[in-house]
Amino acid sequence: MRTFEQSDAMKRLPDQFFAKLGAEVGRLVAEGKDVIHLGQGSPDLPPADDVIEALQKGAENPVNHKYAPFKGFAYFREAVAEFYKEEYDVDIDPDKEVALMFGSKIGLFEISQCMLNSGDTVLLPNPGYPDYLSGVALANAKHEFVPLYEKNGFLPAYDQLSKDVLDRAKMMFLNYPNNPTTGVATKEFFDETVDVAKKHDICVVHDFAYGAIGFDGVKQPSFLSSEGAKDIGIELYTLSKTYNMAGWRVAFAVGNESVIGMLNELQNHLFTSLFGAIQEAGTKALTTKSTYVEELVDVYERRRDVLVESLREIGWHVEGPKGTFFAWLPVPEGYTSDEFTQLLLEKAHVAVASGRGFGTLGEGYVRFGLLDSEERLREAAERIGKLGIFKKE
Ligand SMILES: Cc1ncc(COP(=O)(O)O)c(C=O)c1O
Repeated sequence: MRTFEQSDAMKRLPDQFFAKLGAEVGRLVAEGKDVIHLGQGSPDLPPADDVIEALQKGAENPVNHKYAPFKGFAYFREAVAEFYKEEYDVDIDPDKEVALMFGSKIGLFEISQCMLNSGDTVLLPNPGYPDYLSGVALANAKHEFVPLYEKNGFLPAYDQLSKDVLDRAKMMFLNYPNNPTTGVATKEFFDETVDVAKKHDICVVHDFAYGAIGFDGVKQPSFLSSEGAKDIGIELYTLSKTYNMAGWRVAFAVGNESVIGMLNELQNHLFTSLFGAIQEAGTKALTTKSTYVEELVDVYERRRDVLVESLREIGWHVEGPKGTFFAWLPVPEGYTSDEFTQLLLEKAHVAVASGRGFGTLGEGYVRFGLLDSEERLREAAERIGKLGIFKKE
């Protein structure tokens, strides 16, 4: 067989760090080991029954066997606008300010192809969700990392960035509640972001994947709630996490009309829109008034409490997250993130994500997903306790 050479663009793509973790977990499971897999970000609970019913009904609707309109059905875009008004008091024009997409992952990739020329500069969080870099690399753009430090609540300190970098930057990715650090934003931080972005002419791309998952009764702000945000940026919202629909691939971007227009135009070339039944089910999820999301957040909050409590019991003194369904925990002295991750996997059969996979400033941390039952999270802590690394007081 002849092996063809990859394009330069393909060669620029970074390694998929977490593919390796999945393969190692697979190997242990094949050996019959009972692995508690807290290394990924795939929700473990099902969508609401009425959303599943809407999908089933939608599959029987003859309209949906045909290609959907390029920009998606108007009723779904209207549901998006209604949702933003209801949840965040943000006015969205369903025709000009909404782009539907097959999950936000593809949107995060598309935005770089829409906005960036070869050599342009983008600001990326470090640590950060790895997929931002993939789109930037494919577009042959340059990136500057914005450090997220614990002492600043994992928010960028704009006054610490050089004027030159801010002036050069064409676009900036932000993500709050944050994966992986679990840092949360405030309205004041987003107000400051709008000011900085306007001053330096930077397009803000706010990834709001965990927007619904805030703990201790605190509602997480939308970037678009800040005055002037729509002038200077967009927000991506996915149904994967809020409604446990990760496998369904449904998300949207809202905000700046010119940027949304580019996303819709690129998608006109790449796809026809989402399967109509998914659009019907997505509409159901966004517009139904129920306690589904509230109950889901309660589940994650209880899991957080169980994990933090059980880890403290074994002598690992950690703080719990304020949002997302992750915990971002400092590794004990004497280990790198990779070494500690490997130790937990091999000796305790607990899979977590090494902080290193999210960037250089992820070193010193591991990420636990709150994506198994309270019982299994307690068991994970007990297994780690048996390794004798931590000292009980
Ligand atoms: C921060 C962040 N953004 C985006 C995504 C992509 O989500 P989806 O493509 O399912 O919408 C994820 C998924 O894990 C994520 O953690």
